[in-house]
Amino acid sequence: MVRLSYRTVAIGRAVVHLLACLPLVWLFVTVNSGQAGGDPVQYIIHFLGKGALNLLILTMLVSPLARWLKQGQLMQLRRPLGLWSFAYASCHLASYVSFDLLFAWQLVGQELLQRPYLLVGISVWLTLLALAVTSFKRLQRRMGRRWQQLHNWVYLAIALAGVHYYWSVKSEIIEPSIYLAIIALLLLVRAKIHIHKWRQFFRFR
Ligand code: HEM
Repeated sequence: MVRLSYRTVAIGRAVVHLLACLPLVWLFVTVNSGQAGGDPVQYIIHFLGKGALNLLILTMLVSPLARWLKQGQLMQLRRPLGLWSFAYASCHLASYVSFDLLFAWQLVGQELLQRPYLLVGISVWLTLLALAVTSFKRLQRRMGRRWQQLHNWVYLAIALAGVHYYWSVKSEIIEPSIYLAIIALLLLVRAKIHIHKWRQFFRFR
């Protein structure tokens, strides 16, 4: 098996940044040219929410893909993808607070009571924030085992992100159901990898 060179992985990282940037440019152009439909605010919120979820799914796909292709260097794509997911989620939150709520903070409590899925969204965002802040190599070294324990929270975050999506829609449940199924499959694959690792660990002790 040919090992990917450092240069190829660096190019891969640049491609990730470019591909994650392009939809934002596209969104800006679409909204400014009046092509975002009758409710551009909803259009922006939905576009960014979906983007955050798609990027989170891609982040979670890196590890099984790297194992399957036996290309450990691919793991270096996980951090940029995860950070972009956090960036999209932050823009999603910012557009909701600014364009939808118009910074009317007194409305927040009322909104949370009326739409409990927002609480789920907030917990996902807080988890992604913690993962983004601690994603630096130096911090990873300093935190040791606690770093991995913290970063395992991504599994809960992706499951809750799927729930947030499913719960937020009023009628069209087919697409969010497909997302939930994909997330469940990803979690199953990850669980299998962990069980395999534990088995090997106990066998060689
Ligand atoms: C503070 C955190 C968050 C808030 C306040 C929030 C708020 C919202 C709102 C208001 C909607 C639109 C619901 C409607 O149609 O009326 C929505 C939908 C959505 N959100 Fe969030 N959200 C948050 C975090 C997240 C995160 C972290 C993700 C993903 C990682 C996410 C993914 C989605 C998705 C996929 C949708 C559905 C988009 C669609 O229907 O096309 N949200 N969210």
